[in-house]
Amino acid sequence: MKIFVTRVLPEAGLGLLREAGHTLTVYSGKRELTPEELIAECLKHEALLSAGHNKLDAAFFRSCGHLKVVALYSVGYDHVDLKAAASAGVPVSNTPDVLSAATADTAFLLLLSVSRKAFYLHKQIAAGKWGFYDPTSNLGVELTGKTLGVFGLGAIGLELAKRCQGAYGMKVIYHNRNINPVAEQQLGARYVSFDELLEQSDVLSVHATLTAQTRGLFNKEVFGKMKPSSIFINTGRGGLHNEADLLQALLDKQIWGAGLDVTNPEPMDPGNPLLDLPNVAVLPHIGSATVEARDAMARVAAMNLLAAAEGRELPNPVSL
Ligand code: DGY
Repeated sequence: MKIFVTRVLPEAGLGLLREAGHTLTVYSGKRELTPEELIAECLKHEALLSAGHNKLDAAFFRSCGHLKVVALYSVGYDHVDLKAAASAGVPVSNTPDVLSAATADTAFLLLLSVSRKAFYLHKQIAAGKWGFYDPTSNLGVELTGKTLGVFGLGAIGLELAKRCQGAYGMKVIYHNRNINPVAEQQLGARYVSFDELLEQSDVLSVHATLTAQTRGLFNKEVFGKMKPSSIFINTGRGGLHNEADLLQALLDKQIWGAGLDVTNPEPMDPGNPLLDLPNVAVLPHIGSATVEARDAMARVAAMNLLAAAEGRELPNPVSL
């Protein structure tokens, strides 16, 4: 197959495709392709390996119904119109599971960094403001015995819950579309209503898929129901929270702190006031950014492309 690849990706996956005799065109530019450029490239190829945030919408699938597969280099697929893909008869795959540990580590890192104001204090040192020892300043909060609330408890949320329980004996509550029996059996996680999740969580970590129902869900009203001592963590999608409302909730002390690996928009504006708050830590969407996870994602994406080329069932199909 002739495969168009939208980013330079690890050889761990691209090598598998080349070894199997496929021809790859890898776009090495440092910008997102325009929709027109992406369609023009896809028209010259039989499959797409898509990394990044190119919107694969109805217009894309109307023009590219010839593709044998769209293999995503991500677990998330909120940028793909799956209904349009299905109507055009183009199968879509993603890279689940292999990035769960790395993304949970990122959530855990944010949680700990926020609880001890680590990013802010690092910046203070660089600005020459270490200063005089004041026993009542630079105080963080401890996590031992507190309650972790997970919104969207799937593979990543489970990994985070294991870390929080292992390190700090945290109780785990969650709210999902479906019950998660593994989390209940392994961690004693307790299913609660959305309002109970907001009211009881000391740390609320968001891992849900971005959909029409979840877009902007974490807004003024929702932050207003959380504990004033709570920490909000989002490693899912920036679109899940309303960033202006989050800032206001922090300024009004409706919540204590926030850790974000995803922002709205991305990249975050360097002048965003969230970056100046002591109890906030922001990372540039690095959830899966470890050598191990990115190599594994490349291999998983390659396996899906190979399956499509050989007419086999996709190992990781995504559908509505
Ligand atoms: C994913 O895999 O969905 C990550 O968030 C990268 O977009």
